[in-house]
Amino acid sequence: GDVAVLVPAAGAGVRLGPGIPKALRELAGEPLLVHAVRRLGAAPSVGQIVVAAPAGDVEAVRELLAPVAAVDVVAGGASRQASVAAALRAADASLGIVLVHDAARALTPPDMIERVAAAVRSGLPAVIPVLPVVDTIKQVDDAGRVVGTVDRAVLRAVQTPQGFLRAVLVAAHEAAVDEHTDDAGLAEKLGVPVHTVPGDEVAMKITRPLDLRIAAALLTS
Ligand code: CTP
Ligand code: MG
Repeated sequence: GDVAVLVPAAGAGVRLGPGIPKALRELAGEPLLVHAVRRLGAAPSVGQIVVAAPAGDVEAVRELLAPVAAVDVVAGGASRQASVAAALRAADASLGIVLVHDAARALTPPDMIERVAAAVRSGLPAVIPVLPVVDTIKQVDDAGRVVGTVDRAVLRAVQTPQGFLRAVLVAAHEAAVDEHTDDAGLAEKLGVPVHTVPGDEVAMKITRPLDLRIAAALLTS
C-alpha cells in the first residue's frame, strides 16, 4: 500500500458520558478502536496505520491492536489536531498519500477508505467523503431566534477518512495557527482545493449514547 492512515483516538468521549476514553469503549464486545483498525487493515491501499492513543494508554493500545493489524502507536495530544500532528510525525515519509480517520467512525467500510485513497491517487491534493444534509438548517441569534434558513442543497456533512497528498497535510499542519475540527479545514486555509467523494451512512461518528445503540444495530443487521 502507498497510504499511511493516521487514527486520532486520544479523545475522552465527553459526549458519550462518563467512562474510559471513547476509543476504548466497547461495541459488541470489542473496543471502538479495534473495529476501526480492523477495517483499515482490510483496505488494500493501506501500508501503515499510526494510532494516536490517550497518553496513559499507549502500551495498552499497542497490545490491544497487535492481533488486529500492524500498527504504530503514539501518544495523542490535548486536541484532535494535536493528536493528528503527533501521528503525522510518526508516519513513514515514503508513503505519498496520508489519510486521517477518526477512531470514533468505527464501522467505516474498507471500500470507502479505498474510494478516498483512489481519489487522491488520481491527482487530487485533498479529498473528503461527504453526505447530503437531511435536516432543515436554521441560523439563529444569541437569543435562539431564527435569523434565516440556510439552503440545504449546497451543504454537506463531512466524514472521515480525509485524504491528502502527504506534502499537503504536512504543510497544512505546519501552517496551523488555530484549532480546526477537521484536517481539510487546515488545507482550505492554505488555499488547497478540497474535493469530495460520496461518504457512507455506516461511517457515522459515534458521539452520543444513541450512536452506540445505532452502531450495535448496524453490526447485527
Ligand atoms: N481525538 C484525539 N485527541 C483529542 C481529541 C479527540 O485523538 N485530544 C479523536 C477522538 O478520539 C476521535 C476523533 O478525534 O476518534 C473525533 O473526535 P470526537 O468524536 O470529538 O471524540 P472525543 O473528543 O473523544 O469526544 P468528545 O468531544 O465528546 O469528548
Ligand atoms: Mg471531541
